[in-house]
Amino acid sequence: MRTQVGIIGAGPAGLLLSHLLHLNGIESVVIEERSEDYVRQRVRAGVLENTTTDLLREVGLGERMDREGLVHGGVSFRFDGADHRIAFEELIGRNVTVYGQQEVVKDLIDARNRDGGRLLFEVSGTAVHDIDTDRPRITFTDSAGQPQELVCDVVAGCDGFHGVSRKSVPHEAYDHTYPFAWLGVLAKAAPTREEIAYTHHERGFALYSMRSPEITRLYLQVAPDEDIANWPDDRIWAELHTRMAVAGESPVLEGPVLDKGITAMRSFVATPMRHGRLFLAGDAAHIVPPTGAKGMNLAVADVRLLSMALTELLRRNDSRLIESYSDTALRRVWRAEAFSWTMTSMLHVMPGADAFQRQVQLAQLRYTVSSTAAMTSIAENYVGLPW
Ligand code: FAD
Ligand code: DHB
Repeated sequence: MRTQVGIIGAGPAGLLLSHLLHLNGIESVVIEERSEDYVRQRVRAGVLENTTTDLLREVGLGERMDREGLVHGGVSFRFDGADHRIAFEELIGRNVTVYGQQEVVKDLIDARNRDGGRLLFEVSGTAVHDIDTDRPRITFTDSAGQPQELVCDVVAGCDGFHGVSRKSVPHEAYDHTYPFAWLGVLAKAAPTREEIAYTHHERGFALYSMRSPEITRLYLQVAPDEDIANWPDDRIWAELHTRMAVAGESPVLEGPVLDKGITAMRSFVATPMRHGRLFLAGDAAHIVPPTGAKGMNLAVADVRLLSMALTELLRRNDSRLIESYSDTALRRVWRAEAFSWTMTSMLHVMPGADAFQRQVQLAQLRYTVSSTAAMTSIAENYVGLPW
């Protein structure tokens, strides 16, 4: 097989890159180890920055998002027994949209299929070769068990944190793990709030979010090595009520649990995001802890940049943008790393923190929700800094 851009991974990064390249007249093939059904259903992130929704609209992917997405003009921080709203629209005139990552992925798969895109699911044994030449190759076994070779001009490693791309190249890694994890629950229960709430409680962080007028999405801070078997539904609901109640009132409405799982919290950056003709994008190159919802938005920012750079390279033989891809992408990555780290440190209960550190954390929270300057800073980072 031959293509211009061989893309490993059909997550938001790989699928959007394939779509953007197609709009610029560049061919690609996407290979994915999971099944199409699995990729369509995988429950993950939910918040789209204003920058992301603008881009998705611009490239013809806004129709269902604008119909079904929930526009939020602010978020709340709940602590000290009160709800403190940070009003993005009033502060900076912008907002975010709650629209599940798997909905973006479904829209992308449908668009690629409609446009005759080549998406190969259920491949195995993916390996990259010859990335220091101008004919890199990807080898894999297809879903019928046949060995395949894909010869490309460029390989895009969009295969997430556990993929093969990053591991195939030398890189410097910056890695930070947090002493807690998130237990996430998707429940068939109507949200009682219109906006997301981040709660700091002495028993731990909790997050109230939603996916639709019928579905609530909730998270609890738990121990990093927590076993989901220790969290029967009753215990989850009791803990959510306790942590999120303000003046004795819990916003949480219980309902059948549709999905639950534990996500580790990690900050990770691999540099550079390029080696020869292999370019890394999204979680393959970097991870943020989920507080502040930057993961998928960063993947979108990377492939927007990469698609422009590859277009210049492959259509006009101009390599200037591709030479600066890694440095340009990493500036936004480090800004998102800083914001996610700040949100995570401010809102979670830090195991082992002494009484002094607890007071400093509370002082920071109180300042953040009372200073217009501090709220504006949260707002502009949360809705997405300009490209
Ligand atoms: P991915 O979505 O990981 O896609 C990579 C794709 O590559 C996958 O489909 C994978 O199957 C495929 N792949 C891997 N290896 C190979 C291979 N060898 N060959 C072929 N294909 C391969 N972010 C938030 O902002 N909020 C959240 O609440 C949140 N929750 C998360 C929960 C979990 C469990 C995880 C893992 C991430 C979560 N994130 C969250 C982060 C967010 O979902 C990611 O940042 C986003 O998915 C990044 O997109 P991506 O396309 O770069 O990577
Ligand atoms: C959601 C996830 C986040 O990480 C976050 O900060 C806000 C909302 C969500 O899944 O809805």
